[in-house]
Amino acid sequence: MSIQPVETPSNKDRVYIFDTTLRDGEQSPGATMTLEEKLQVAEALDDMGVDIIEAGFPIASIGDFEAVSEVARRSKNAVIAGLARAIPADIARAGEAVRHARQGRIHTFVSTSPIHLAHQMRKTGEEVLEIITATVTQARNLIDNVEWSAMDATRTPIDFLCRCAELAIRAGATTINIPDTVGYAVPEEHYQLFGTLIERVPGGDKVIWSTHCHNDLGLAVANSLAGVRAGARQVECTINGLGERAGNAALEEIVMALRTRADAMPYHTNIETTHLARASKIVSAAANFPVQYNKAIVGKNAFAHESGIHQDGMLKNAETYEIMTPASVGIKETTLVMGKHSGRAAFKDKLRELGYELGDNAFQEAFVRFKDLADRKKHVYDADIVALVDDEVGSAGDRIKLVDMEVVSKTGGVHRCDMTLSVDGEDVSVTYDGTGSVDAIFNAIKQAVGKEPHLVLYAVDGVTGGTDAQASAHVRLEMNGRIVSGNAAEPDTLMASARAYLNAYNRLLIERGAAAQGALAG
Ligand code: KIV
Ligand code: ZN
Repeated sequence: MSIQPVETPSNKDRVYIFDTTLRDGEQSPGATMTLEEKLQVAEALDDMGVDIIEAGFPIASIGDFEAVSEVARRSKNAVIAGLARAIPADIARAGEAVRHARQGRIHTFVSTSPIHLAHQMRKTGEEVLEIITATVTQARNLIDNVEWSAMDATRTPIDFLCRCAELAIRAGATTINIPDTVGYAVPEEHYQLFGTLIERVPGGDKVIWSTHCHNDLGLAVANSLAGVRAGARQVECTINGLGERAGNAALEEIVMALRTRADAMPYHTNIETTHLARASKIVSAAANFPVQYNKAIVGKNAFAHESGIHQDGMLKNAETYEIMTPASVGIKETTLVMGKHSGRAAFKDKLRELGYELGDNAFQEAFVRFKDLADRKKHVYDADIVALVDDEVGSAGDRIKLVDMEVVSKTGGVHRCDMTLSVDGEDVSVTYDGTGSVDAIFNAIKQAVGKEPHLVLYAVDGVTGGTDAQASAHVRLEMNGRIVSGNAAEPDTLMASARAYLNAYNRLLIERGAAAQGALAG
């Protein structure tokens, strides 16, 4: 079943949200997610009202194929898309992966710009036109919901782009996507590009036109909205703007811009905006990608008012400095939750309120960690519970686990870490003297596991305020050209650092097929 525009007053201004966090977002260096994490993200997107979830690139690896298939099987309302290059094997694999969805979509793409044709594809324009007809026809014979994308469309001469889109439509594509693959467009130009395509391409009134903007110049959201203004009715975006290089257009920004400025942009989406803050947290934890503090809509400071004048105004009337309410994006007051006397039922209730439904084992493990935290920390806040559960889900199935750690640190003296790790079920004990405690911990882990990843980033932040706040540690590692991130939250900073490092290390051990990755460009 395909989504087709039906020109009625009620839906001609409806913008379909196509989320590609699990595909374009996951391509971001260090943002690899496990199957469990992908399923958690997909569920949050589906519950939030995302129209189309691009769940991955099935030919890239067995893991990607399984993730797309499983997301498809579990989908409730969203259309599930699988990406495919303009290669018959890719298209067949994508078709197979989305087969179990209530509604599946094959999304196939080919480069159209002269620079890609000459240097990447080594094909002539005529050859690309033939490829479009053949591959879209193949996809359409497998499924009736086919999206075709012109990679690097914004650097493609307009006449050739029109011809490509025309052939894709003629071969049966139901959505035509015009990616700004390299983030080169500016809004006015993007508006004109969509206007021209929609007007000139034969059959253009029978398909949905789609924007897909990258943020290299910080213009992804502005360009997407310009596309909508010109007639595009699908926007491709990611939670937190996750994506390669500077990322993709941020879903939460597009949705809230359309909602808050409906006076200037009279279009609507189906997104339940009160889910945005939680979706942002889930994606940030799953991809191990911190959200910048001043990120619009979902950053820690997005609704914080620091200056005296602003605070004074806010106390008198929130509208003085707030154009949307924190509640409208799902940000609640941080609430004090339970202490060490709280039982299982209360903890389960709190998890439900925070949007978590854990299986029996995961619940039991989370409860044990909650009790441990409540023993050590006077006040346990919602944010602590979110950090704890996200951490738990993120570390399920780890091959390297921390069994025991002791760190000794003396002014001007030794910084020693004694550590026991379980590596594939076997205990390994090591001692390492470092130039500081963290250096000792990280080197002890490397020694125990016997591999030498390069530390790209190490950062620590407080989950809430106060000296007893949990420390949230972030680690990014690189090995053999692969970058992964790790995250952990603990009341003790050194313990959080060790666990974040291990979390990243475990991700390095998750195999990911390289077959098709090199061919992806944003
Ligand atoms: O940016 C891009 O061109 C893409 C395509 C694969 C749609 O992500
Ligand atoms: Zn892209």
